[in-house]
Amino acid sequence: MRKPIIAGNWKMNTDLSRACELTEELVGKELATRAEVILCPPFISLAAVGERIADTPLKLGAQNMHWEESGAFTGEISPTMLTSVGCEYVILGHSERRQLFSETDPRVNKKAKAALDHGLTPIICVGETLRQREEDEWRGHIESQVKAALINLSAEEVATLVMAYEPIWAIGTGKTATVEQANEVCRFIRVTIETIAGHDAAEAVRILYGGSVKPDNVSALMAAPHIDGALVGGASLKAGDFAAVVNYEK
Ligand code: 13P
Repeated sequence: MRKPIIAGNWKMNTDLSRACELTEELVGKELATRAEVILCPPFISLAAVGERIADTPLKLGAQNMHWEESGAFTGEISPTMLTSVGCEYVILGHSERRQLFSETDPRVNKKAKAALDHGLTPIICVGETLRQREEDEWRGHIESQVKAALINLSAEEVATLVMAYEPIWAIGTGKTATVEQANEVCRFIRVTIETIAGHDAAEAVRILYGGSVKPDNVSALMAAPHIDGALVGGASLKAGDFAAVVNYEK
């Protein structure tokens, strides 16, 4: 059985004081424990958020990472820096990083490897553009992103990681993929992983859907057989909405 995940990607939102406040609001709510719940605040708030969730079931994740441990890489954050503040997860290859900050498949692969080497669980994002969806080119695109991200990872490593399907056309647009579309792509990702890392790894890997997940659509998405969780942007910035997503109806 794959344990579901609900992860909040706060993106470049919340200053330190708002991040602490939002965390405290969440800690004060009744949150179901059937899913692992991960908060991914901006780097500058990781330590403070980490302290506030230390005695709770909530977990800490970062939004990006460099693959080196240290060195002359101005502006970058290393895996050991993330683990030193209690991070257990790291989002890699988010479409905003790919589209706006020149993130490439080979770098996502290096980062995934480094994360695993340091005991961090990567949440590797893949997803197609609206044009690729409309021209029915999403399969080739998703397959190449998945394969590139997993180069040189062992089947055991692949089994532990998390994938996130985030169709670019559904991010921050209010447009959600239908449950059928999301499940179809998540299934396709699992089948692709099976060809690379075998059946057991493909069955173990958790695949999230992200793109305008909200309290009113999360339950239907979570009921789909190949969707193991949600990567939530906008709705993770309001404690009430995020708690409602976490407490989705089964
Ligand atoms: P929204 O939930 O705001 O569409 O963002 C999705 C996302 O990009 C999460 O990583």
